Amino acid sequence: MSKADLNTPRPPDEAVPPLSRRKFVKAGMAAAGAAYAAALGYPLFRYLATPAERAAALAAVKEVTLADADKLPRESALMFKFAGRPALLLHHADDTWTALTAVCTHLGCTVQFDKDRKAIYCACHGGMYNPKTGANISGPPPKPLLVFKAQILPGKVVISRA
Ligand code: FES
Repeated sequence: MSKADLNTPRPPDEAVPPLSRRKFVKAGMAAAGAAYAAALGYPLFRYLATPAERAAALAAVKEVTLADADKLPRESALMFKFAGRPALLLHHADDTWTALTAVCTHLGCTVQFDKDRKAIYCACHGGMYNPKTGANISGPPPKPLLVFKAQILPGKVVISRA
């Protein structure tokens, strides 16, 4: 192709509008920018929306069914989740049952049933709770654990808000 060919105007049917390539590149850059903004913005949106979603999920869950939990041996505990938060089902030596939240009321650590201490124990700062009532009995926890209602049925235990 000679230099003269480059300067020769194209016939009208081959003519490309002068801004079409520029518009195409602009549209591509806008699409890439939108995708980039969405990639950055969505995690931020999820992060900011999470507390509200968590509160809604917590309020929406009214009960949890634990299959075969009725077979839990005496003097033992089963960890489960209630509305996405740790909870404990306890089968006591006298064949009574208790279900309560397993989130320490001090700073939110997960508590555990301590068979030797016969208490619910928080390893973070040594807080202890009564395993039957959830009452805070020693250490820094300022409030009792939230107690759920536990229905012991054949083949399952149904936990619901008390
Ligand atoms: S978080 Fe449980 S005693 Fe501090």
